[in-house]
Amino acid sequence: MKDFIKQQEEQLKSIITECGYEVNEVSLVVSSRKDLGQYQYNGAMSLAKAYHKNPNEIANEIINKMQEYKDYTNLNVAGPGFINISFTDEIITNYFNALQENKKVDIDIPSKKIVIDYGGPNVAKTLHVGHLRSANIGEAIKRLAKYMNYDVISDVHLGDWGRPLGLVILELKNIHPEWVYFDESFKGEYPDTCPITNEYLEKLYPIASNKAKEDEEYLNEARIITTKLQQKEKGYYDLWKQIVKISTDEIKRLYDILNISFDLWEGESDADQYVPEVIEYLKSKGLVQESNGALIMDVSNLEDNSPMPPLLLVKSNGSVSYETTDLATIWERMKKFNPEEIWYVVDNRQALHFEQVFRAAYKSGIVPNNVKLEFFGFGTMNGKDGKPFKTRDGGVMTLNTLINLVKEETLKNLNESIKGEEREEISTIIGTGTLKYADLLPYRATDYIFDIEKFSDLNGKTGVYLLYSTLRMKSLLEKAKANNIKIDKISIINNDSDRSIYLKLLEETSVLYKSLNNKSLNEIAEYLYQLTNTYNSFYSSTRVITEENTDLRESWLVLTEIVYETNKTLLEILGIYLPNKI
Ligand code: ARG
Repeated sequence: MKDFIKQQEEQLKSIITECGYEVNEVSLVVSSRKDLGQYQYNGAMSLAKAYHKNPNEIANEIINKMQEYKDYTNLNVAGPGFINISFTDEIITNYFNALQENKKVDIDIPSKKIVIDYGGPNVAKTLHVGHLRSANIGEAIKRLAKYMNYDVISDVHLGDWGRPLGLVILELKNIHPEWVYFDESFKGEYPDTCPITNEYLEKLYPIASNKAKEDEEYLNEARIITTKLQQKEKGYYDLWKQIVKISTDEIKRLYDILNISFDLWEGESDADQYVPEVIEYLKSKGLVQESNGALIMDVSNLEDNSPMPPLLLVKSNGSVSYETTDLATIWERMKKFNPEEIWYVVDNRQALHFEQVFRAAYKSGIVPNNVKLEFFGFGTMNGKDGKPFKTRDGGVMTLNTLINLVKEETLKNLNESIKGEEREEISTIIGTGTLKYADLLPYRATDYIFDIEKFSDLNGKTGVYLLYSTLRMKSLLEKAKANNIKIDKISIINNDSDRSIYLKLLEETSVLYKSLNNKSLNEIAEYLYQLTNTYNSFYSSTRVITEENTDLRESWLVLTEIVYETNKTLLEILGIYLPNKI
């Protein structure tokens, strides 16, 4: 069914037309002065300009016409011509009763086909806090877009094809030279398991990477292996497959804990098969130049204020760059899915990389101008010192450590009666919910400070507060059901304490649109808190179950049900699990 505010805006538009004025769009604004009105219409001023009239006069004409409808109370004009509008309890209750039957407000934007690229974990490397942000924000954007009826394909885009793999393989070769993978004369079948753990792999990468920084020869060897791997040379390629498998298992385990999932588990390596075609195509368009043995493409344009470096297509040693893999991935996505937009949820620090790749895609015609390539960058999670969040001893904060940290903090406040396996399970759900909420609360592109005490405050703007409150609504509803109390219809709004909850609920649709527009979940996270808070102030001063007026009691219970359902839906969009108990 149509959103209440949308209905009201349309009605007001026809009222204004009836008054003899032409308007394109009428928008109602939530009023910050609830004593004057619930909503405001501020269009009288621009009408006054267009019609050379006094805004106050126009506002009064509109109000007079509005009086003929039975939907408003307390209409008044403030200042030069602001119209304050309040809705009658009757139309509000009618709307929510109808909504209870229809369940969802209509989404009135056209559906679009989107590929969304987020997560971006790297094989054989430990996931860190930056990967949390990409996965968490990306997952929520995907869920929101789906909720808004977009046709969305999510792709994790594994980092599985670059130098880090060459380094890890080299390190393995040095430690285990006897492995068949390194025996050039080996002719048989390679084993289908490899006797190493993910933990071991993650230890190897930093060792190899440090060696490469100090030892030119070692670095060269790693480069050669990377190139051989990219040429799918047997042995290396077979070992690589094992590494990818071991690593992906661990990545999936972490994503599962975080309620994050993907339609596609493609990696940089999957785009590799398209690289020759892409290079050929670019050459045919005359866009490729040679520079010191490397192939590059100029992506600068005349309007650039600062120099735009050329895009490196193929390095002088023959290996393929990160840019080319992304370009080939776009090529693949266009061919396979023909999306209307491709979204990237990646660290702000990769903005230039995507600028180059996008320019190359448009300039070459790989992507036509009507397809949108969009980079949705995110800020850094910092420590209290304002620098990227580190462990206590200054090391990289891994995702695993981070999850354990929030879990431990959660355990401190967790009810003692929850024990054993359940305690473990619930603390994981609440801990990750707390972490995810804190990470979605600031605007996507801004940096924020990780503050575990603040994030886990039971009475603060936190995930745990929301989960706790939502479960309390659930148990109130269960109690009513256990007592066979009917929860069917709203018939009474008692006073401002419950009325303000209805008014908050009316804001939901516009919040969803705003969030989708900004590709940031901060609006939804904030709204969820406000709605919950409004409900909690009502709840703390109201004895619902024991209310003697049964109509009022039923109205309150339906209201509780609506808030509960709204919270559940929004938590689900944020990708936050609701535990069974706290
Ligand atoms: N693996 C990359 C990293 O850790 C992120 C990948 C982002 N997505 C992309 N299509 N380049 O930095």
